[in-house]
Amino acid sequence: MAVDLLLGLQWGDEGKGKIVDVLTSKYKIIARFQGGPNAGHTLVFNGKKHVLHTIPSGIFHEDTANLVGNGVVIDPVIFKKELDKLEKQGVDYRKSLLISRKAHIILPTHRLLDAASEAAKGKAKIGSTLKGIGPTYMDKTGRNGIRVGDIELADWKIKYRALANKHEAMIAFYNVDIQYDLKELETEFFDAIKTLKSLKFIDSEEFLHQAQKSGDSILAEGAQGSLLDIDFGTYPFVTSSNTTAAGACTGLGIAPNKIGDVFGIFKAYTTRVGSGPFPTELFDEVGETMGRVGHEFGATTGRSRRCGWLDLVALRYACQINGVTQLIMMKGDVLSGFKTLKVCTAYNYNGNEITHLPFNIEAENVTPLYTDFKGWDEDLTQMTEASQMPKELNDYIAFLEKELEIPITIVSVGPDRKQTIIR
Ligand code: GDP
Ligand code: IMO
Ligand code: MG
Repeated sequence: MAVDLLLGLQWGDEGKGKIVDVLTSKYKIIARFQGGPNAGHTLVFNGKKHVLHTIPSGIFHEDTANLVGNGVVIDPVIFKKELDKLEKQGVDYRKSLLISRKAHIILPTHRLLDAASEAAKGKAKIGSTLKGIGPTYMDKTGRNGIRVGDIELADWKIKYRALANKHEAMIAFYNVDIQYDLKELETEFFDAIKTLKSLKFIDSEEFLHQAQKSGDSILAEGAQGSLLDIDFGTYPFVTSSNTTAAGACTGLGIAPNKIGDVFGIFKAYTTRVGSGPFPTELFDEVGETMGRVGHEFGATTGRSRRCGWLDLVALRYACQINGVTQLIMMKGDVLSGFKTLKVCTAYNYNGNEITHLPFNIEAENVTPLYTDFKGWDEDLTQMTEASQMPKELNDYIAFLEKELEIPITIVSVGPDRKQTIIR
């Protein structure tokens, strides 16, 4: 059976967690393929909000297997905190949670290195979540990393010590003021490693291969968004993994010809957290209203998210790179009450009108060109059927479908599981 993918098409926080949770009843396996605790995926049901960082968003469905794939980087300390929260809520994860032996481990010194690197960059900082993501993926590609399977081996602490020592020398090299007590961090780390070791480690590519052969349905869950992809995002203001469809192949061991549907998620407007270019960013009351009504604060760091109009140039690019087959539009409810809505349909790029995403999208090169739409006043949050949606929202959706040539099959009108309209 083909593997479906679900991934973000903007700069992250599109609402992946909510939709994975909504779709989970259709799948036997949910598998995270990249990223780590830099992600914050929010789920709301039965009046309660849950935020997941590394654990797949299908975990609240007991009959679904939840796999942390080889492309993911795991911080045992944060992972343990997530498990403790689940335990308190009575979620029995021991049977359903599976971890790839090939996933890499974030060490305490990776986090410190992240902080040192950002401090050394000063104003040019990436705006990293400081979870050690960049340094851990650097050690992975540099062939120095420690993997989940390593901690089952007797001598892994020797490898750990050598790597941590090297990291300390690198931190000193940055010559910035980073205060830390490694002994204390290590006590917490090794304690969390014990918890991690109590979970089920598997050879996940084989597990997924057998599952596909038996006809089990699989949904791969992405983290971050396409514009944060290490190759195709707004480099260097990106994360350190492939957040796009290809990342699901390498992050899980799925062959490209085994991919079925690619669900691309986007907000009806755009947000970004951290540094980097954002052509349609608003610095006025309209942007402030989006942020306030949409509660646009990072689920991992609490930082306020930058807000702006929908950017179709960037969205078209993301659809192409990922081969999106179905679109899911989130947070349409946040746009209720705006008299006029704007959608960026092209860029003025150094005097020329273009409709593709160029190499450089900094404000000095790019000015967005907008098409205006009449807004709607209706509150969408209680709507459950497409037939209830106002004409202006239907016009907005029809325009996006025509421009992107992909159907919008789900419209989300609130954070709750139930606030989801299937078209
Ligand atoms: P993710 O990282 O892609 O899973 O997204 P986040 O959880 O970081 O951010 C999405 C935020 O929007 C969360 O606070 C969700 O609860 C919320 N949310 C999701 N869908 C909707 C929606 O349709 N309308 C509104 N108002 N909020 C939503
Ligand atoms: P989810 O899965 C939004 C951003 C950070 C920063 C850049 C690099 O919840 O959508 P990193 O910690 O990876 O070194 O940060 O990427 N970023 C995210 N922004 N949502 C996320 O994940 C993000 N994960 C990383 O803000 O700009
Ligand atoms: Mg998020």
